[in-house]
Amino acid sequence: MSDTRISGPPSQSIGPQMNRRALLKAGLATGGAAIAAGTLTGTAQAGGDPLITEIQDWNRYLGDGVQASPYGVPSEFEAHVVRRDVEWLTASTESSVNFTPLHALDGIITPNGLCFERHHGGIAEINPADHRLMINGLVDTPLVFTMEDLMRFPRENRVYFLECAANSGMEWRGAQLNGCQFTHGMVHCVMYTGVPLKLLLEEAGVKTAGKWVMPEGADASAMTRSIPMDKALDDCLVAFKMNGEALRPEQGYPLRLVVPGWEGNMWVKWLRRLEIGDEPWHQREETSKYTDLLETGKARRFTWVMDAKSVVTNPSPQAPVGHGKGPLVISGVAWSGNGRIKRVDVSIDGGRNWQTARLDGPSLSKAMHRFYLDIDWDGSDLLIQSRAMDEEGFYQPTKNELRASRGENSIYHNNGIQTWHVKADGTVENVEVA
Ligand code: MTE
Ligand code: CO
Repeated sequence: MSDTRISGPPSQSIGPQMNRRALLKAGLATGGAAIAAGTLTGTAQAGGDPLITEIQDWNRYLGDGVQASPYGVPSEFEAHVVRRDVEWLTASTESSVNFTPLHALDGIITPNGLCFERHHGGIAEINPADHRLMINGLVDTPLVFTMEDLMRFPRENRVYFLECAANSGMEWRGAQLNGCQFTHGMVHCVMYTGVPLKLLLEEAGVKTAGKWVMPEGADASAMTRSIPMDKALDDCLVAFKMNGEALRPEQGYPLRLVVPGWEGNMWVKWLRRLEIGDEPWHQREETSKYTDLLETGKARRFTWVMDAKSVVTNPSPQAPVGHGKGPLVISGVAWSGNGRIKRVDVSIDGGRNWQTARLDGPSLSKAMHRFYLDIDWDGSDLLIQSRAMDEEGFYQPTKNELRASRGENSIYHNNGIQTWHVKADGTVENVEVA
């Protein structure tokens, strides 16, 4: 197995950071509280605006009472914020994918209803009372757990991103899909509640020869993968909750495996069995799929870790700039299967100069990180890029660097730098800079 990951310091120099004077000019300096609403953006007029001077219906009449929506749903004005698929991508919806609307979200947590879905045999519908988890193979005592049994083990809460290895796969050979939802939306980040896999394996007693774990799904695809014992004992969870509520059916209700930092395919949903063996099984999903064919004719396999990656979510093709020149909030997300994100640099000139972005919100290992760069846009064309670096020193390569090391046959593990062309009229396009 050849490791063609790219490590080391960034190859390009860091350009001058936006200084305090530039910020003051943009009216954005911290402590610059003198900024009056209206002068900052110049859109809303205090006088003569009927939305200010006239009483509106929502102000005049009583609204719906409590229990109008026993399980709350978003405002009707947010109806455009949905998962979307690309019809021509797959032959059927049962073995298909849809995408997280990254451009419409903020912070680091993905709302449950917006987590992208990837199924190989549709969504299994399982009554938790009928669900069983079996541990068999090289163990002292083969065991079968009900959901109730699992609730009696000590549990933990942890926030992790899940990225499909095929995320950005369409973009290997050039700019393809117009929107970060489609280019980068096979990722989500939620808080899982679950039992450390280690505790369940200890309960069964793994024999000395047991070096691999094979999780199996209860869905029609019966998804199986081989996971090395070290990883199983390190940080894997058998999870039943996401963001505090039960897993959604799409995400594997009632039980899924969480394999932090590793490719999404290994996070087996509707988890029904864990077999312990002395060697990997070489299942379909780790041979003909989820391997990377190199120029030499050899394929990389067992490329489990999802390396440092980032994308600017705003502006982006589905989130154009509507307000013209002046203060512009550039925002995006970054993540790494190697740990925390240490730094994200943003370029507005296609990678010639870089500014260090502001990381905001919790910085958790193997979780999404949120970054911002607040600029004063002069209204000219921008080529916006972001480049993440993780705490292990891995930085996000350019797409050309990736192609130089892996060739052009790959689909999986594209963590190359994305470029958005912001035009003077505020529209945004997916492009590549040579
Ligand atoms: N587990 C089962 N049982 N069946 C599946 O089709 N798809 C895998 C993985 N686990 C799959 C599965 C793939 S390829 C990915 S990327 C993730 O689940 C997607 O998880 P999500 O649907 O929660 O986004
Ligand atoms: Co996947």
